[in-house]
Amino acid sequence: MSTHIALLPGDGIGPEVTAAAVQCLEAVAEIHGYSFRFSEHPIGGCAIDAYGTALPETTRAACLASDAVLLGAVGGPKWSDPRAAVRPEQGLLALRAALGVYANLRPLQVHPRAAQFSPLRPEKLRQVDFVFVRELTGGIYFGAKTRESDAASDLCRYSEAEIERVLRRAFTLARERRRKLTSVDKANVLETSRLWRATAQRLAAEYPDVALEHQLVDSMAMLLLTRPHSFDVIVSENLFGDILTDEAAAIAGSLGLLPSASLGDGPRGLYEPIHGSAPDIAGQGIANPAGAIASAALLLRYSLGLPAAAGALESALWLALDEGVLTPDLGGHHSTTALTEAVIGHLWSQSAVDAAVARA
Ligand code: NAD
Ligand code: IPM
Ligand code: MN
Repeated sequence: MSTHIALLPGDGIGPEVTAAAVQCLEAVAEIHGYSFRFSEHPIGGCAIDAYGTALPETTRAACLASDAVLLGAVGGPKWSDPRAAVRPEQGLLALRAALGVYANLRPLQVHPRAAQFSPLRPEKLRQVDFVFVRELTGGIYFGAKTRESDAASDLCRYSEAEIERVLRRAFTLARERRRKLTSVDKANVLETSRLWRATAQRLAAEYPDVALEHQLVDSMAMLLLTRPHSFDVIVSENLFGDILTDEAAAIAGSLGLLPSASLGDGPRGLYEPIHGSAPDIAGQGIANPAGAIASAALLLRYSLGLPAAAGALESALWLALDEGVLTPDLGGHHSTTALTEAVIGHLWSQSAVDAAVARA
């Protein structure tokens, strides 16, 4: 039976970067003899235009029936009127909730070619290698919202169970890495953070091999810049994770580089680059597809259980950047397509090397 990947290109550069990721997945399938079936569905602004809703029922149903979902980006100035009744971003939030993908993994390493675009000095970037685990389906994003003529409110609520499941994911991930977990909160002010910290403290007893530290979110924003190399796995609630991971992306040199995997309890996941629809460069063929391609690698690893294929795609991307096939956000003059083709070229040459080794 073939694997069903629901494809949600979305708005702006979303279709450009998802097309790149699909081409890479098709090459992976051809090289290894896998069979991937893609079905494409609208989400975000383009869905509002066509159906009046940011997450049409057919899109939701296809995602729920799929093995994995690959998404580009949603939103743009056309749909950004603050008085609009429906917004593209609501579609993404509703999809995350429908899929139950409460743990959003955002891994970060700094490619040497991108380092010069980082605001940090090169010596600060050595050995930076961490994974952010952002809680994705709770907190202030999903709490009750009220609006009066001269006031508004957003409720931030977390149950202990919601906190526990994402913390367990982070502890488990830390165990597979360097066994260090940084839990980010604002426990000096927020009640939800005090529950968060107490839950982390309780779970720590079950993971004695993982060193747990707590950081307040404001000082964490600073520490990401002053000692990024000291972090291994970082876990936080939804809004703090949103903000800190864009900061982390700047450390890596470009927002266009970072992938994400959103996971729940089962193998199905939602995979998307962390960047948005980049309206300023949409339609020009110059968007950096690296974040989307790396997201496709995470899809292979976490939803399809193909770690070797995932690793091969990641190293093909790394090699393509190594040889200087860079889009303008990284100071290059190459197109989205050129980088994608370079990645696919490296996939094929790796497989030729593997075949030669197997024959020898
Ligand atoms: P953005 O991430 O779209 O763009 C920020 C800056 O980074 C822009 O200068 C853009 O050109 C650049 N950039 C982003 N991705 C790039 C890539 N792959 N290659 C090269 N350059 C890239 O953020 P924004 O401008 O604040 O938001 C635009 C829209 O996207 C908004 O409607 C926002 O809500 C939406 N958004 C969607 C998602 C998502 O779908 N997951 C994420 C963030 C923002
Ligand atoms: C992200 C985005 C989304 C978020 C928006 C578009 C709803 O910024 O994926 O990081 O805030 O989660
Ligand atoms: Mn964000």
